[in-house]
Formats: sequence, C-alpha cells, structure tokens
Amino acid sequence: MPEATVRCAFITGGSSGIGLAVAKELVRRKADVLLIARDKNRLEQAAGSLISGRVDASGRIEPKPRVATLALDVGNPEQVKNLLLRAVQEFGEPDFLLNCAGEAFPDYFDRIPDALFEQTINVHLKGTWYVTKTLLPYLKKNQGIIVNVSSLAGLVGVFGYTAYSAAKAGVIGFSEALRSELVDEGIRIAVLCPPDTDTPGFEKENRMKPRETKAISASAGVLKPETVAQELFRGLSKGKFLIIPGFEARFTAWVARHMPVVVRWVMDRTIRNCRRQIQSV
Ligand SMILES: NC(=O)c1ccc[n+]([C@@H]2O[C@H](COP(=O)([O-])OP(=O)(O)OC[C@H]3O[C@@H](n4cnc5c(N)ncnc54)[C@H](OP(=O)(O)O)[C@@H]3O)[C@@H](O)[C@H]2O)c1
Repeated sequence: MPEATVRCAFITGGSSGIGLAVAKELVRRKADVLLIARDKNRLEQAAGSLISGRVDASGRIEPKPRVATLALDVGNPEQVKNLLLRAVQEFGEPDFLLNCAGEAFPDYFDRIPDALFEQTINVHLKGTWYVTKTLLPYLKKNQGIIVNVSSLAGLVGVFGYTAYSAAKAGVIGFSEALRSELVDEGIRIAVLCPPDTDTPGFEKENRMKPRETKAISASAGVLKPETVAQELFRGLSKGKFLIIPGFEARFTAWVARHMPVVVRWVMDRTIRNCRRQIQSV
C-alpha cells in the first residue's frame, strides 16, 4: 500500500498506546482520523496531541486532515451500531478500520471472575465483531482495509492470560474466516499480533501479572508503540495478512507454529524455576 492511500480511518482504542501511534502515522499520511474509545477526556487529549502536530510554518493548524473523537464501548452492540452509523454520516465513510480497543486482566485462571472473562471477550472478540459488522458495507464500497489487533498471546497461549489468549486467538480465527469470505470483494484484512509493547495498558497489566507471567516475559524485549505502527504499515505495503512486529516475536511465533513443543518446554522450565524461587524465600 503506497503512502497516503488511506482517506478516512476509524480507530477503536485510538485514545492511547498502539491505536494512538497508528493514528499519528495516519495523520502524518494526511488521512482523516476518527478516534474511538470510552473515556471522553482521554479522547480529547489524544485528539489534541494529533492536532498540535499539524501546525504549518506560519503557526496555523492545517485544515486537513481532520481528527475527531467518538465515545463508545465497543462491547455494547446498540451503542456501536447507533453511534458509528451517525459518525459515518457526520465524519465520512471509512476506508480503513483498526480494531484496537482492548484491555487485559492477567491472573491465575481460578482467580479470574466470570465477569472479567466476559469483559475480556466483549471488548476484544465481540467488539471486533460488532464494529466490523457495522462498518463493513462502507469498507467494501471504498475497497478499504480492516486491521484486527490480536497479540503474540493469541498465537501462543501464555500463563496468566487464559481469558486474553482465548479472546485474541478468537480474533485471529474470526479474521481468517472473514478474509476468505471477502477475498474477491476488493477489501483487505490483516491481523496485527504485537508482542509486549510499552503503552499505558501494558503498564497497568504489569501491576496485575502473576510472578510466573513476569518470569516468562522477563527476557523478552518491549517494543515502542511507534515501532508497532511502522511495522503495521510495512506489513500492509507487503500485502501481509499476519503482521508480527519485531524479529524476536516473529521468531517465537515461527517456533510456536513449527516446533510448539520447544516453546512449551522453555515456558514450563521458566515457570518451574520461578516457583522454586518463590518456595525458597
Ligand atoms: N501493549 C501490549 O503489550 C500489547 C501487546 C499485544 C496486543 N496488544 C493489544 O493492542 C491493543 C491496544 O493495546 P494498548 O497496549 O495500546 O492499550 P492501551 O494503551 O490501554 O489502549 C487501549 C485503548 O482501548 C480503549 N478501550 C478499552 N476498552 C474499550 C472498550 N470497551 N470500548 C472502546 N474502547 C476501549 C482505551 O480507551 P478507554 O479505556 O477510554 O475506553 C484505549 O484507547 C489491545 O487490543 C491490546 O490487547 C497490546
């Protein structure tokens, strides 16, 4: 995809982290951007940070591209349908959709309440479904691109992420099935599977992680959201369906696919060592 071919982007989870980094890249490429999330204040702040980057040499804010915000919960089908359809009328028909809204609550399986499991499925899996269903007619008409954000934890089940890995694996399955249904419709679908990325959401997650989860990710690097955004557009320009930012994450995903026993062995050994250390103190 050559630069600046996106005209109008809708980004769920656009007020923070990876979604905001993708929005910045799209604004740089002169696309109009609609940021979608629940918290209005954070949305306004995020939009302000994008607009302040669009000052011309004489100090005036350039009239294009446009940046707007929409407050909704992607897990609420009525809100999604009503508010997104109104946004299409008022802001324009999208030719790019990033389903990036998400949050994770890592913990031991038997300590995750059903309500948090449901919240996890609602935002990642049902949210992706509802938003895609509502916007698909416009994305089809405009020969657009849909990017669904999964995770490396959707390709490799990770300790402490029973709910999250299930939801993110679901996002990959959904995207693969939809890709084949739309293969001749001129619309593109890609799945982004980032590894650990330094965002406000990741920081919040780190405070909840079981010790074993921390031990597993201790040796892995952490990407910047801007790097994830750049790798997304590089992957799209190469026509990739599955986009895994970072060499280390691509290597892990490759080994997990071709030699899953190796990844399980390494993770199990790390977990046992971590438990031994906990018992010995
Ligand atoms: N950071 C990582 O290490 C990492 C790795 C792999 C995958 N991911 C995935 O990447 C995506 C972005 O994560 P991030 O790390 O950038 O997180 P983040 O900084 O916490 O941003 C999450 C965004 O999603 C929005 N959001 C959360 N729940 C929502 C809901 N129910 N409806 C609408 N918007 C909602 C948040 O705004 P409000 O709270 O105001 O709604 C915020 O804009 C997520 O899908 C995450 O699972 C992240």
